[in-house]
Amino acid sequence: MAHIIVVGNEKGGSGKSTTCMHVATSLVRMGHKVGALDLDLRQRSFGRYIENRLTFARKQGLDLPTPDYRELPEADQATVEPGENVFDHRLSAAVAALEQDAEFIIIDCPGSHTRLSQVAHSLADTLITPLNDSFIDFDLLARIDPDTSRVTGPSIYSEMVWNARQLRARAGLKPIDWIVLRNRLGAQQMHNKKKVGAALEQLSKRIGFRVAPGFSERVIFRELFPRGLTLLDLRDIGVENLNLSNVAARQEVRDLMRELKLPGVSVNF
Ligand SMILES: Nc1ncnc2c1ncn2[C@@H]1O[C@H](COP(=O)(O)OP(=O)(O)O)[C@@H](O)[C@H]1O
Ligand SMILES: [Mg+2]
Repeated sequence: MAHIIVVGNEKGGSGKSTTCMHVATSLVRMGHKVGALDLDLRQRSFGRYIENRLTFARKQGLDLPTPDYRELPEADQATVEPGENVFDHRLSAAVAALEQDAEFIIIDCPGSHTRLSQVAHSLADTLITPLNDSFIDFDLLARIDPDTSRVTGPSIYSEMVWNARQLRARAGLKPIDWIVLRNRLGAQQMHNKKKVGAALEQLSKRIGFRVAPGFSERVIFRELFPRGLTLLDLRDIGVENLNLSNVAARQEVRDLMRELKLPGVSVNF
């Protein structure tokens, strides 16, 4: 069976699609077979990202390691059981098709609460939640007391993950390994950074996730999408001397891949 990695957060713009692309291509680069699904059926950023990559590689005559991306298949009404949810059916069919060949399946989720996203979370062996370093984003994980910065209770997204964990437990599946990834960390705003960090530390013990250091705020992330590139491809496209920022960014991807502790993966780039 494939190890399923879900990248989710009900907040848009937190870096889910960017993270998906980097994790998926890192795994392919290290020789693993990776299937990819995008459950954001409207924006399809992850799907578009991979399509851009294939187009760019073809035009340039490059062989860029690329995950096996599949569209969610349309449901064949004849095979949908009475009472079965059509979205569940389509997701199961997609996972079953990819599982024939893939060691890892990476699933990007929309930045909203949908049936597809909910079901995907219950399939997750590993869940990665990118989070912008802001209390607006933190609010989807937990409520905090403005005076003391103490966590007062879980919030909508954590409750959804909790439900997914319950479902898995009842089905006898292994628990979700949940990693919260801090994204767009700034060089300034030390005070905010510390406060969000402390709140995450507190919460991680309470609701059971690990905190990964994540990605700094870098312009290059926004430039990579049209060519479908990741930070790991710069040498392949002829960038001989990586600048300091690019070297540091690569290191962040490497650190994330190590922190994920995926089965059978030894990070070697
Ligand atoms: N670490 C980062 N530094 C700078 N820009 C980033 C970073 N991470 C993501 N972005 C940019 O933020 C926007 C949202 O990222 P995206 O991955 O599409 O988020 P989501 O899938 O959660 O909506 C995109 O324009 C992306 O290029
Ligand atoms: Mg997205």
